[in-house]
Amino acid sequence: MTTEELKRFEIPGRVSIFDGNGELPKIEVTTDTSTAEIYLHGAHVADFKKKGEPSLLFTSQCSRFEAGQPIRGGVPIIFPWFGPREGGAAHGFARAANWVLQETSSIPCGGVSLRFRFPGSPENALMPAFSAYYVVTVTDTLSLELIITNTSPDQELTFENCLHTYFTVGDINVVSIRGLKDVTYLDKVDGFTQKTEQNDAIRVTGEVDRVYLNTTSAAEIHDPGLGRRILVEKSGSASTVVWNPWIAKSQQMSDFGNDEYLRMICVESGNVATNKLTLAPGKSSVLKVVLSSSRL
Ligand code: BG6
Repeated sequence: MTTEELKRFEIPGRVSIFDGNGELPKIEVTTDTSTAEIYLHGAHVADFKKKGEPSLLFTSQCSRFEAGQPIRGGVPIIFPWFGPREGGAAHGFARAANWVLQETSSIPCGGVSLRFRFPGSPENALMPAFSAYYVVTVTDTLSLELIITNTSPDQELTFENCLHTYFTVGDINVVSIRGLKDVTYLDKVDGFTQKTEQNDAIRVTGEVDRVYLNTTSAAEIHDPGLGRRILVEKSGSASTVVWNPWIAKSQQMSDFGNDEYLRMICVESGNVATNKLTLAPGKSSVLKVVLSSSRL
């Protein structure tokens, strides 16, 4: 859909649609308490900001905004696989697909809800049939729901999914992540070695790339730099991924600034690795994440 065709989804004072970075159609949402920016490209929430606060989400100044390329930051939708795959795009094909906007609506208490549909991709031709919808609800919190349904009459659908949320922090050196103590994780920077989290408050002092398994708990980011506590609540998710590229990897990534690792942390919610999902024909899964913040 072109930006002109999308204009019918505008809601005066609440939803406006125009060309954003890279001339990709962008939806700007204004509620009584917050603002958000969403690209049709990837159904990608690129920003969410409570009035009077710094952005909750982080997007790189070096991000590409190009058809076929993922946006670096915000909330990439990872589906149907997590990580690299031979012959396929890293983290699956959903994050660079041109999702279809189906509905925008004002909701009580001055919020806005938007619904997107996955358009299909040549890459999913080898999978059993499925549908994917994404519902974004903006109030003083950001609520994200990814709904996958196996629409095949007779085949099981197996996949990984993840809402790869990038958060803005004041200074990574003083940030801690809570809610994962005693959880088993795969340490990707140590050859996927399985370990158990010992810390109540996880500090980031080097590259961190961990897949925490079998955990349905909320995670918290304590950020004394911005005086903020971010709460990542989730349902329909058994994995939490924590990622910060640190210095060397930041320098290797062409779509990420060399020192941006200081101002971001990813705490992602999904079902990956041994927590991948299998749906019988006709069955659905709902991955839901609610992001909120309060003063520390
Ligand atoms: C994280 C992975 O979720 O995403 C990391 O655990 C990966 O291994 C990171 O480096 C970024 O991935 P990409 O494909 O967006 O560069």
